[in-house]
Amino acid sequence: MSAKSEKRSVIVSGMRPTGRLHLGHLLGTLGNWVQLQERHECFFFVADWHVLTTDYEKPQSISDFSREMVIDWLAAGLDPERSVIFRQSALLEHAELALLFGMLTPLGWLERNPTYKEQREQLGDRDLSTFGFLGYPVLQAADILLYKASGVPVGIDQVPHVELTREIARRFNNYYGEVFPEPQALLSPAPKIPGTDGRKMSKSYGNAIFLDEDPASIEKRLGRMATDPARVRRTDPGDPALCPAFLLHQIYCTPEEIAYVTEGCRTAGIGCLDCKKVMIRHVLEQLAPLRERRAEIVAKPGLVDEILAAGAERARKIARETMREVREAIGM
Ligand code: TRP
Ligand code: SF4
Repeated sequence: MSAKSEKRSVIVSGMRPTGRLHLGHLLGTLGNWVQLQERHECFFFVADWHVLTTDYEKPQSISDFSREMVIDWLAAGLDPERSVIFRQSALLEHAELALLFGMLTPLGWLERNPTYKEQREQLGDRDLSTFGFLGYPVLQAADILLYKASGVPVGIDQVPHVELTREIARRFNNYYGEVFPEPQALLSPAPKIPGTDGRKMSKSYGNAIFLDEDPASIEKRLGRMATDPARVRRTDPGDPALCPAFLLHQIYCTPEEIAYVTEGCRTAGIGCLDCKKVMIRHVLEQLAPLRERRAEIVAKPGLVDEILAAGAERARKIARETMREVREAIGM
């Protein structure tokens, strides 16, 4: 089969706009998206309605976070020519399909969902005994099936949601005839990215290196990153295997650099700051082109809104067609 006749598959994924993106996003989901757009028909959207399922009391920041997140996407290399980039809330078809899916989704499927149980416990400070929060995966199934996706690039935590999407597609097809394909989860790489304190990198821990962070700040914060606690003084030898910072070396450094710092650490031949500088250089190098593109984007006011509007138009063509089929299948 020639490259030309090879069928491009439809890829759909979304991200909730809950704050600035960090290195964990870039090395995981976002980096994966940027690669997928080279060979597939991709739809990437801002899941702004999904934020309301947990943040319905304080929706004020959703709009700003949405715009900022899209700037990060573009800075990281998502290309609006190749990928369809839009806001979920701009397409009412997502809501209509979610409503219809809600009719045929048994409550038991939603109550058993492991992410549901886990999140309800984690976010115990909010009242999440709402219809919308329980129905989160129903809306997600609509997001995915509206475009008849065959692949859904997500992190491991989202796999149960894609599984539920398949079950909803199957049930719909059983009742009303074959309309939807059953999508596959495409697992994003999930390298263990430590934050500056050695715990998993997360905005809520205050240990994240942000994609739009100032280089001087990155250098300073990574320079103070947690190390092998046995290296109290410069003359104490250490063990890279016990050093959180070294996890970043393993992601970013060349084999030669790894060998150099490992030897230097074990023999106390180099200090921790010099050791970290070897890794910090790579982090800054990776983020430099993002910073440049970000500056170009923000220099053009209105650009992001234009991209989102154009993306919504493109998405709408497909979404309308699917909804026409859906209504006809149900007989509405
Ligand atoms: N639930 C996803 C997350 O929290 C975001 C999301 C919403 C999504 N709709 C989607 C992901 C559709 C993939 C496909 O990360
Ligand atoms: Fe970690 Fe490097 Fe310090 Fe060793 S020298 S403890 S690997 S930062």
